[in-house]
Amino acid sequence: MSPKETTAWVDLQSHAYYMSQSHISTLFDESPNRFAQFGFTQDNLLLDLSKQRITDETLRLLIDLAKERGLSTWIEALFNGEHINDSEDRPALHTALRTPKGVKLEVDGVEIIEEVHQNLESMEAIVTKIHSGQWRGFTGHSINTVVNIGVGGSDLGPLMACKALAEHAPESARNLNVHFVSSMDGSQLADLLSHLNPARTLFVISSKSFTTIDTLANANTAKEWLKQASDDASEAILVSRHFIGVSASPDKALKWGIPKANQLAFWDWTGGRYSMWSTIGLPIALKLGMKGFREILAGAHAMDTHFRETPLEQNLPVLIAMVGIWNINFLNINAHAILPYDGRLSHLPAYLEQLEMESNGKSVTRKGEATTYNTCPILWGEVGTNAQHAFYQLLHQGTESVMCDFIVAAKRYHDTDNSELKHQHQLNLANCLAQSRILALGDTVIKDAESAPVYKRYKGNQPCTTLLLDELTPHTFGQIIAMYEHKVFVQSVIWDINPFDQWGVELGKKVATTLLDALTPDASIEAFDASTQGLLQHISIRNK
Ligand code: F6P
Repeated sequence: MSPKETTAWVDLQSHAYYMSQSHISTLFDESPNRFAQFGFTQDNLLLDLSKQRITDETLRLLIDLAKERGLSTWIEALFNGEHINDSEDRPALHTALRTPKGVKLEVDGVEIIEEVHQNLESMEAIVTKIHSGQWRGFTGHSINTVVNIGVGGSDLGPLMACKALAEHAPESARNLNVHFVSSMDGSQLADLLSHLNPARTLFVISSKSFTTIDTLANANTAKEWLKQASDDASEAILVSRHFIGVSASPDKALKWGIPKANQLAFWDWTGGRYSMWSTIGLPIALKLGMKGFREILAGAHAMDTHFRETPLEQNLPVLIAMVGIWNINFLNINAHAILPYDGRLSHLPAYLEQLEMESNGKSVTRKGEATTYNTCPILWGEVGTNAQHAFYQLLHQGTESVMCDFIVAAKRYHDTDNSELKHQHQLNLANCLAQSRILALGDTVIKDAESAPVYKRYKGNQPCTTLLLDELTPHTFGQIIAMYEHKVFVQSVIWDINPFDQWGVELGKKVATTLLDALTPDASIEAFDASTQGLLQHISIRNK
């Protein structure tokens, strides 16, 4: 049944007709208690939905919609490993990757939690070997630099976590530099290689499929760089001393040259964008130590338990998802800004862009019918205080309605003596609170705003969510990312789409192959459209 045919959807439409006339500032006037009404917690996280354009009635109807869509049954199907990724006929079991040892979960006849922990132990052995200086390069020197080569899910999660949690690095990891390379054009890698020492550099080739051309091209360049730097070492020695492969396709990694002893595996039931909890998280473990990595897993598991066991009415991922559904499908808001007020979370917007848009950026239902309603909005974002000097003008005075997520830690720099740094945290908090206030309430927050010229007015009514963490720790980090994962899943259930495949990225890969051929001298280009032919000719002339 289409979500539009549910009773709750129809009721939400009538409710939206009335609510779309209302302003968030009026909702606060009518109900000063909104913070208590729409504030929800899980451990050290506080989710404030009071600046959303909602009432009790809105939430009640949204939860009805979730129930009518059978959400609780879907949640169980997710955790139990049913084949809910139907187009690829497999489960989506990222939750298993953070399930504690001892729990039993059999999937397709295999006990998987034991395997998950065996993989973590293999990962730990590698981390210890590198941290202790026992892993040696081709000259016998220890490793002081790790370069992760991967893209999408094999890059963004580890990159984000390493930046977010760098200050939690243990003593043993302090001398290890961890870099990330993803771009196909080679620019990041060329830049890095110009100042790295080949004898002390280890490359982690991260690729679920081990067929991604972006990653393989960078890996080949790295191998060539090592070969040129070492006159007499054989390729086999170079690869075994300087490359680790992390993949769900071990045979392909082996074919590229990485011996099984240098490989970490994971499973095809781990989606790329859901894989930072698996061995794809190796750079995180190298940066934070296994203890830090396990704390992230524990935080995510705490959110999994909350998601699975808490009534829908108090369930953070469900609430954040359903409020999104309200904004997208009933208030017609199709843009979503992710605004971390924390430089450490600078990669969160890019991570969520992939997580949300690659998962739910779809217009076909599980039964293969076209959706008759909007699905994933356009997401983008930036560190909030920087975005204030870039695109906030549009948020405040543009013509687009945008829903905004503010993410900020209450506590920071409590163990520093630098009073100026402490003051910077206060400044940051003040800006975060000020901006969500103006975006939601408009210039009603100041006196006599009506007398200002129209170009100085702020209309407000942009729905804002604030996610306030006590502090940014590996545990809270795990909680937040798992919360967003489950939010995406809940929305997919409402929209009746499969969030775990990504067929929309395949055609580009095929067409690029034909264009690669067309770039060779004297290739025939008549089959292409006029624009592509013109561009190819221009490129060819410029390269003569
Ligand atoms: O092309 C999209 C995609 O398949 C993503 O889903 C994935 O995270 C990324 O490419 C990298 O894939 P892989 O880990 O197989 O190299």
